Amino acid sequence: MNSQTKKPLLEVQDLKVEIKTKVGSFVPVNGHSFSVHEGETIGIVGESGSGKSMTASALMRLLPKHVAKITEGSVRLDGKELLTLSEKQMRKVRGAEISMILQDPQTSLNPAFTVGSQIKEALRLHAPGPRRSLRSRAIDALKAVKVAAPEQRIDAYPGELSGGMRQRVVGAIAISCRPKVIIADEPTTSLDVTVQAQYLRLLRELQEETGMAILFITHDFGIVASLCHRVLVMYAGRIVESGPVGKIFANPAHPYTEALIATVPSLSGNQGRLRTIPGQPPSPAEKIVGCPFAPRCDYADARCRSEAPPTVLANGDSEHTTSCWRAVNQ
Ligand SMILES: Nc1ncnc2c1ncn2[C@@H]1O[C@H](COP(=O)(O)OP(=O)(O)OP(=O)(O)O)[C@@H](O)[C@H]1O
Ligand code: SF4
Ligand SMILES: [Mg+2]
Repeated sequence: MNSQTKKPLLEVQDLKVEIKTKVGSFVPVNGHSFSVHEGETIGIVGESGSGKSMTASALMRLLPKHVAKITEGSVRLDGKELLTLSEKQMRKVRGAEISMILQDPQTSLNPAFTVGSQIKEALRLHAPGPRRSLRSRAIDALKAVKVAAPEQRIDAYPGELSGGMRQRVVGAIAISCRPKVIIADEPTTSLDVTVQAQYLRLLRELQEETGMAILFITHDFGIVASLCHRVLVMYAGRIVESGPVGKIFANPAHPYTEALIATVPSLSGNQGRLRTIPGQPPSPAEKIVGCPFAPRCDYADARCRSEAPPTVLANGDSEHTTSCWRAVNQ
């Protein structure tokens, strides 16, 4: 897909989130700008703590209260600015227009209610219609995510289902109201590899049917390669590289992306032992001077350690950006 020719569904500009803790404040989402188009899947990839879930929560306006807040930026969904909506208005948008599948399906289902009542609640809140049809619409939602025997499973409690099945129910709730954008935050971590592959296939099928845009958050560049059109690589709260998946795999412009790709044996050609990136990301409390990746970067020089690199086009390509001094020097 040529992302330049279509109007974006989601447009994020200069988004910043600040977290205040007893020991000080830090910025887990530091000036994100990106857009997502209809029918497009964007991967957000980065190590633990890089700010992927904070980005998702900020887009949903579901940041932890009294801890984190959006301090700058704009999030437009189909042309509508979300950051200035009242909480009441935002509740109508959540679920109906933008929906999130959480990292842990165990915690996103309430064990005390049947799966049917939880799907019906989502439909009642976000896609009101005649009441008598709610049960049949909930069964349809389970069918859409390929839950076998949905007429019986609708009356099951989450604890009576397998992990993979629970994941599908969470997916059913998220897509039941046909949102324009769905954010899937590591929905596969608790699943085994076969269930994971089935689930990813399912998401793609649903996308083909509905044209929804997907933001797919993961640690795993292998998943990005198989599922996503474009990728945003996050490091220490910043998007350090973005562009079409094929171009980034063929020609990563940021040393961190290069290192992440090298951690996936099937992509890097490094068969055998999984490589890890030496060193640790900066701790949130650390004051960063220069490039945040410099302590772990083989190419770091004096300027990298003293001045933050700007975001520039990689290889002069308008679809591919990176924040690295090496790209500036080209
Ligand atoms: N409720 C919270 N209170 C204080 N700090 C938080 C809170 N939630 C997240 N953080 C901090 O914000 C930063 C970004 O966290 P985030 O959860 O977005 O990371 P992530 O990229 O999703 O990581 P993972 O891959 O482990 O899910 C981290 O430094 C984290 O410790
Ligand atoms: S700016 Fe310097 S330290 Fe940072 S990634 Fe590029 S080469 Fe490495
Ligand atoms: Mg997370």
